[in-house]
Amino acid sequence: MPYINGLGVYAPEKIIDNAYLEKLVETSDEWITSRTGIKRRRMAADDEITSDLACKASLAALKDCGRSVNDITHVFVSSASPDALCPVTACVLIRKLGIKGVMAFDCNAACSGFINALQLANYTAMADPNAVILVVAAEIMTRKLDWTDRTTCVLFGDGAGAVIVSRNLPQNPQGFCAEIDDILIDTDGEFSELISIHAGGSRQRYSVGDPVDRNYFISMNGREVFKQAVRSMVEAARSILERNRLSLEDISLVIPHQANDRIIQAVGDRLDVPVDKLFSNVSEYGNTSSASVTLALHDARNADLMPKGGRVLLTTFGGGFIWTAALLNIL
Ligand code: UT7
Repeated sequence: MPYINGLGVYAPEKIIDNAYLEKLVETSDEWITSRTGIKRRRMAADDEITSDLACKASLAALKDCGRSVNDITHVFVSSASPDALCPVTACVLIRKLGIKGVMAFDCNAACSGFINALQLANYTAMADPNAVILVVAAEIMTRKLDWTDRTTCVLFGDGAGAVIVSRNLPQNPQGFCAEIDDILIDTDGEFSELISIHAGGSRQRYSVGDPVDRNYFISMNGREVFKQAVRSMVEAARSILERNRLSLEDISLVIPHQANDRIIQAVGDRLDVPVDKLFSNVSEYGNTSSASVTLALHDARNADLMPKGGRVLLTTFGGGFIWTAALLNIL
């Protein structure tokens, strides 16, 4: 099976805490903390765009595994907040990395985008023994927010994470290395309206000079999404364990999508995950959409929560709906 070899992240320097949001909308640190667990989130600088975050995370991942940009054969960028509809962020990224001639394109599966891109890399590496695939999840969600809507603007943040996938064993034994044991992806389009950015594509016609209204920003039925997120991540986690004939005892760490600490705790409770095996860093970053599990993997690794020989279970949920589970065997 292919390996993830090399992990790097980038979180913008600017920190927005809950006190700052209290000045923008009718909210409170107490409400945000008790309902979401979020204390602060990162915000990209005015001159930073998504490909800049992607580039910094990619260089960190390459450094982590001791590879050069010239080794890369494929680049898959996951983003729900790309630089633009066109040009493709992956192509801007390869220009910034100084490479050409590789297969490079964007994929959007909302908050589940990283695991979807990872599965694509997994298949690519299975088909091509020489493939060295850069998988990047990069998000500037703060530019997709209506800053007058308190039900969404307190939830999201910016960040990026990258991994290198290949069939070769690590160049740098100190770098992050994990075998991709299994990936499960499930979808249901019936609920696509529950998280949406209505305008900006073909659905809402617009012309030069039209005002930018709230349809250009995220809207979400939080309560309904909450229920579906818990149900779907629990179901995906159970299914992937069952089809690999594993139980939670075989798992050293569970990393759910970092959207809301109450969702993370509810997933943990239903699966019966011991507190010390359930990872959460949503307090520090908020919901960074598809970058969330990469930032979590990075922080979990720094906290020594992913011992060699241990198995990590990732599970994600997001707009579409698209939900996933992945099993990584840490080497
Ligand atoms: O990444 C994609 C997946 N996204 C998610 O997983 C998000 C899922 N949903 C959630 O995390 C939660 O549903 C929220 C955090 C969005 C909301 O929490 P909730 O406990 O479901 O609150 P609610 O939507 O039921 O709202 C409760 C009250 C409402 O007031 P009323 O109608 O009871 O008077 C809201 O207007 O809280 C109010 N409210 C706020 N109050 C202060 C909503 N947002 C805020 C706010 N500050 N920021």
